[in-house]
Amino acid sequence: MARLTATEKAEILGLFDRRIEERVPIAYLIGEAWFAGLNFKSDNRALVPRSPIAELIESGFEPWLGGREVRRALDLCTGSGCIAIAMAHYNPDWHVDGVDISVDALALAAENKARLHADNARLLKSDLFSGLSGEHYQLIVTNPPYVTNAETDALPKEYSYEPELGLRAGDDGLDLVLKILRDAPLHLSQDGLLICEVGESERALVKLLPDVEFAWIEFKVGQMGIFAVECSELIVHHHRIRELADARTTA
Ligand SMILES: C[S@@+](CC[C@H](N)C(=O)[O-])C[C@H]1O[C@@H](n2cnc3c(N)ncnc32)[C@H](O)[C@@H]1O
Repeated sequence: MARLTATEKAEILGLFDRRIEERVPIAYLIGEAWFAGLNFKSDNRALVPRSPIAELIESGFEPWLGGREVRRALDLCTGSGCIAIAMAHYNPDWHVDGVDISVDALALAAENKARLHADNARLLKSDLFSGLSGEHYQLIVTNPPYVTNAETDALPKEYSYEPELGLRAGDDGLDLVLKILRDAPLHLSQDGLLICEVGESERALVKLLPDVEFAWIEFKVGQMGIFAVECSELIVHHHRIRELADARTTA
């Protein structure tokens, strides 16, 4: 193996120093992160790709899809584009839309789309579903902001390098999630499926909507606050979901 030059050694030590002293995330220091076996460009325009949804993508979303045919899939709140692009990569016959409200995140996602040749992925600017009128999907996957105000304020320094827009989501972390649950049926096919990450806000969600059948997904390491829910189930409970979502003040 080739020996490192003195300059290379100094550069590497400089990275360690910034990681330890400034607590900059590794992905931002080296400018890349692995997600679902793919190498993404990563910088502070979007969160570091780390969602356990990667495991679902690699296993073809089974048994959750139950063999249903997907032609169009949506990654709502796409950030770096990691979920949309990985879905497009592993399912070349799917048309995948990736949506975010942040132009910075979308610029990074566009670079990742080109980097990974994801020609069947399309990136769109939209405030949740507002820019998707008339669009329908068999599968919607989302890792939206879901961190409570109190938790966001207390996060370790590493997170201060990430855009707060990707994290903060109100007093119980559910400001965006409730709106997604309210509007998803308008954009899902009748037998469509929504998969949504809510992390630690799982408890608050179950408390607010105890009658909704959320299927909490078991990962290799256990439950990670990610559920699957059928479109039909969201329709059954639409009245209550709408009531809760409409009461949230943020757009
Ligand atoms: C938790 S990050 C997820 C990023 C990426 N999907 C991932 O897993 O790494 C949430 C993303 O939601 C975006 N976002 C926040 N509010 C939004 C809104 N109202 N509509 C669309 N996207 C939004 C943020 O810009 C951020 O990129």
